[in-house]
Amino acid sequence: MEPHVHAAPTAEQDFLPINGTDYIEFYVGNARQAAHFYRTAFGFEIVGYRGLETGSRETTSYLLRQGKIRFLLTAPLTPDSFVARHVLRHGDGVRDIALWVDDARAAFEETVRRGATPVYEPEVLEDEHGRIVRAAIATYGDTIHSFIERRHYDGLFMPGFVAWDNPYAGAAPVGLKYVDHCVGNVNLGEMEAYVRFYADVMGFKNLISFDDKTISTEYSALMSKVMANGNERIKFPINEPAPGRKKSQIEEYLEYYRGPGVQHVAMATDDILHTVTELRRRGVEFLHVPTTYYDVLQERVGRIDEPLDALAELGILVDRDPDGYLLQIFTKPVQDRPTVFYEIIQRKGARSFGAGNFKALFEAIEREQALRGNL
Ligand code: FE2
Repeated sequence: MEPHVHAAPTAEQDFLPINGTDYIEFYVGNARQAAHFYRTAFGFEIVGYRGLETGSRETTSYLLRQGKIRFLLTAPLTPDSFVARHVLRHGDGVRDIALWVDDARAAFEETVRRGATPVYEPEVLEDEHGRIVRAAIATYGDTIHSFIERRHYDGLFMPGFVAWDNPYAGAAPVGLKYVDHCVGNVNLGEMEAYVRFYADVMGFKNLISFDDKTISTEYSALMSKVMANGNERIKFPINEPAPGRKKSQIEEYLEYYRGPGVQHVAMATDDILHTVTELRRRGVEFLHVPTTYYDVLQERVGRIDEPLDALAELGILVDRDPDGYLLQIFTKPVQDRPTVFYEIIQRKGARSFGAGNFKALFEAIEREQALRGNL
């Protein structure tokens, strides 16, 4: 099956209007040090804090921001909290892909009525800046979607957080603008169930499908379907492993994450040459594609604005679809376990996800897997 971008769904069918990604919350072993990494390596600004000093006895959280992207890094303060158990099992990883909605109660009630598993009943959080309504439902693994309603709130983030104040200026932003998509890895045979979950429970549409013939190398294969909400601001590709000669990158993830979870978060930039130059200068490590990739690039994607030699030097990949083209690059995993990584993406019209790069990319991942003794 050829990958195909389906028509955008119409607004009137949308029973779950979503304004965008509100934040992504990571549960980590040490939020203070993770915050420093995201600030120094990725150019995020630390803007908020919640911890012992603010009356939070169980967890510490740092709120980071760059462009419209908000990351929340939360660590346990005691060994027996839910956050501690999550980190023990999964290592550092994504707990919550929080969605910004106008009516969190309606979003919760409608999705639960359609079959979602409730995680947090609607709750009103108030302080002198107004009120936030928050509720959450479960998705794959231990991952959840919070619904965040903030139309009656004009504070920093949400009640309980204070501004983070530190004289260290930090590193400049690298030009990351917004979350383009978040990819989930699920177990063999589970992809269709989660595709149905996003379709039936959340009203998402299947934007693109890839089968194991599109995405396969000599050793491993995977299948993927991209689910998107009505306005396409939220895009969730769901991967499952397909049988191959060796262990696929998805299986390696599932083994080390101990189950389904977020594989990568793609962050958009308007100037990928600048963004990747800066990230590399700060020590962010990316997957290597062989230089032969660039020998046939022009032939494959046609004319593009960016100089090929600059793309080759930085290792940036290019793909074209009927709507335009995109530039993308993938980091190595950003924690000790070979689990979560990042994609940096610049879209120049293209609405797809770089299928033309999958083979080169997965071979690059397999070289890393082999180095880890996991292929
Ligand atoms: Fe991606």
